[in-house]
Amino acid sequence: MARFRIEGGHPLLGELEVRGAKNAALPILAATVLAPERSVVVDVPDLRDIQVMIEILKALGARVEVGRVDGLRSLAVELPEVLDWELPEGLTRKMRSSIFLAGPLLARCGRVRFSYPGGCAIGPRPINYHLQALKAMGAEVVEQGGYVEAVAERLRGAEIHFDQPSVGATENALMAATLAQGVTRLYNVAKEPEIRDLAGFLEEMGARIEGAGTDVITVHGVEALHGATHRVIPDRIEAGTFLVAAAMTQGDVRLLGARADHLAAALAKLAEAGAQVESGEGWIRCRGPRRPQAVDIRTAPYPGFPTDLQSPFLVMATLAEGTSVITESIFENRFKVAEELRRMGADITVDGRVAVVRGVAALSGAEVEAMDDLRGGASLVLAGLAAQGTTWVTGIEHVERGYERLDERLRRLGAAVERIA
Ligand code: EPZ
Repeated sequence: MARFRIEGGHPLLGELEVRGAKNAALPILAATVLAPERSVVVDVPDLRDIQVMIEILKALGARVEVGRVDGLRSLAVELPEVLDWELPEGLTRKMRSSIFLAGPLLARCGRVRFSYPGGCAIGPRPINYHLQALKAMGAEVVEQGGYVEAVAERLRGAEIHFDQPSVGATENALMAATLAQGVTRLYNVAKEPEIRDLAGFLEEMGARIEGAGTDVITVHGVEALHGATHRVIPDRIEAGTFLVAAAMTQGDVRLLGARADHLAAALAKLAEAGAQVESGEGWIRCRGPRRPQAVDIRTAPYPGFPTDLQSPFLVMATLAEGTSVITESIFENRFKVAEELRRMGADITVDGRVAVVRGVAALSGAEVEAMDDLRGGASLVLAGLAAQGTTWVTGIEHVERGYERLDERLRRLGAAVERIA
């Protein structure tokens, strides 16, 4: 198993390009099955979860080619007229995001069958909202023996009220509704930039959508969609992770391709911690303070502070001057990384969904393990960059699910990180 060896204490300096967003590319790739044509998705990061999605698409009958468009890694997905509607079990178990295919496959084939995705390190991760939406659109859903089968000759428009905003359920319902008969209104939906990006792709395919990025989305169902070419938005979570890394190593990093408007809540917190943050069209620069100040954080659906940046900020708080209170309101169990950080000298007390972090003057290198939460894993790398001495991070396959060639890109900024196979 590969691991990272990190010599701490080198400030991150220089420029880096942000890749396309994993969490936008995954639903967009799933959406390609809505049309029996060729679609091209541009700036798709080279990550394990994306590879699993490619394998699933192939198993359903798609042809997927990796190429370059404007120098960016791109996937051309060509869908046949007849698709398999059963998701391959081995692959779907590897990745929760396979659930994104439920809505589009049902809409396209009239039927879908998949094994119930399990929980993961950050919590139980139910899919009840996804299924609620499909049922509301007229699907007959049978859950039996760990499998879900949904059938509907043609979905029909419906009024769907979500109990809480869910990124995945909003995306699934949105994709399914594009081919439904009549109008679908989705209330209390997620407003993340990835939703807008997916809606943009669907519109390019011929879908009729209003309100993506607001609380209510209206979809006028159409008879058929066609292939389209779409460039995915830059990864705001990757960008945020690199900005925190700059801030906590007293570095100075300019991220190219990053969008400040997608990161407003996190940038405000970086500034509150004492970092100097500047941004312009297509770039964000962050210069770290001598020592970060403690900041309180409460995660919330977009435009609130993103849960996916909670652990990088938790790590920054371990070295801050003062005490930070960090509240995780999205996932039940997203403080597992605290235990590993304690091995490096962090002072963190976790009580349910609240972590109290008393800043210490320094972290010390240690052997730590990344768990099945890729953001927590990346945060251990950040801790290693700022710690005194050598840090070994094991379990890096989890980190590499979300960050392309992380070691190589950090090295380009002057970090001493090695990936040891
Ligand atoms: C997406 O997950 C992201 N994944 C996550 O990123 C991200 O943390 C999360 O949104 C929140 O921003 C992708 O986009 C692939 P949700 P998703 O449905 O869609 C509850 C990363 O690190 N819920 O918005 O699964 C759920 O338990 C990953 O890149 C139900 O109760 O998240 C949670 O408390 C991790 N029933 C809340 O809703 C459901 O049917 C929000 O989750 C669905 C969700």
